[in-house]
Amino acid sequence: MITLKKKFSDITNFVFNKKVIVRVDLNLPYFDGKISDFTRVEKILPTIDFLLKNQAKIILISHFGRPKSENKLEFSLDIIKEDVEKIFKKKILFCEDSLKTLKRDKIEKLFNSNDIILMENIRFYEEEAKNDEGFSKKIAGLGDIYINECFSGSHRAHSSIVGIPKFLPSFPGILLENEISNLKNLITSNNSSTIAVFGGSKISTKLKIVEFYLNKFSKVIFGGAMANTFLKAKNIEIGSSLYEKSMVKTAKQLIEKFSEKILLPEDVITEAKTSKDIEVKPLDKILKGDNILDIGPKTRLKFYNEIIKTDKLLWNGPLGYFEKKPFDEGTGFVVKAVKNNKNKNFFSVAGGGDTISLLKQVDAFQHFSFISTGGGAFLEFIRGDGLPGLDSLNE
Ligand code: 3PG
Repeated sequence: MITLKKKFSDITNFVFNKKVIVRVDLNLPYFDGKISDFTRVEKILPTIDFLLKNQAKIILISHFGRPKSENKLEFSLDIIKEDVEKIFKKKILFCEDSLKTLKRDKIEKLFNSNDIILMENIRFYEEEAKNDEGFSKKIAGLGDIYINECFSGSHRAHSSIVGIPKFLPSFPGILLENEISNLKNLITSNNSSTIAVFGGSKISTKLKIVEFYLNKFSKVIFGGAMANTFLKAKNIEIGSSLYEKSMVKTAKQLIEKFSEKILLPEDVITEAKTSKDIEVKPLDKILKGDNILDIGPKTRLKFYNEIIKTDKLLWNGPLGYFEKKPFDEGTGFVVKAVKNNKNKNFFSVAGGGDTISLLKQVDAFQHFSFISTGGGAFLEFIRGDGLPGLDSLNE
């Protein structure tokens, strides 16, 4: 398990007036010309504020989406600059210059009238994903210190994550430190009663973490389309619901091995394919044309009663088709158990993929001990593996 050798507080003595390259994650959810959630920006604010108070100059580097060369404009970080300025309450200069040719003198000149410079999407350079050494060195030459404030990108062995730290004194940001200490707490073993809640559509992409928590935690709840695959494995009719055919055999094996731990829906909310009628159904009443879109009331209560008495909880993924009302209600109800759990040492963490959006939608942020900004990075870290971006800070 990773322990960071350096702390953010280590930079206190020498950050004054320095040019600091801060790798952040401005990869925000963007639909119909609007950002739907700013959690990742809000969470890096303490680091930015600290640097500004210490009169440091900040070079922000981030990725945004997964651009291919033909759709560059759509992935320009210029799109979100103004929104970020509002959250920072500070003007940001967007610099379009190529990182491959940009000179330190130019950066110094820009810093005469700006404290924060945002560089264009780092994934516009093919050298980024290749962790090209020359590219990393060139970027490092623009600053004096490097800060990794991008936990959510730290599972990528990219130039701006693992390359630049080779050439500069490098430190974790405040958010990165918080992520690690909270997530470590989640995977540290003790004998308390522990529960993991997994939803979303695919078992295959989460199989390793599902197995990890089936081995480690007392109980594991499955909802969403993931649960449909388990129901299918139990030969239960799931109608035309989404499930993963290739994982049915694996699901069967997991049920056999962990029958005491696995908690599945006992009733569901279905939408009929043709009439679009929405109904509560016990499992033996599901018809061929039914589409399961949420957990039913009996299941909600069953999951609630398990969560309310647990000491430690991990949540990843929605329990139903939460984007469309009323199918967010099952997830919302079960989240109430997290809110109402009054155990003295109750520790709850949520993260990964869509989880931030879903918890925002059901207004549940404040009920969790910690919400991770990580998607893939969260899932990799909480199964006990290190992350390249964290290892590189220790080298
Ligand atoms: C994320 O959204 O999980 C991070 O920004 C990483 O994005 P990626 O999966 O495209 O590397």
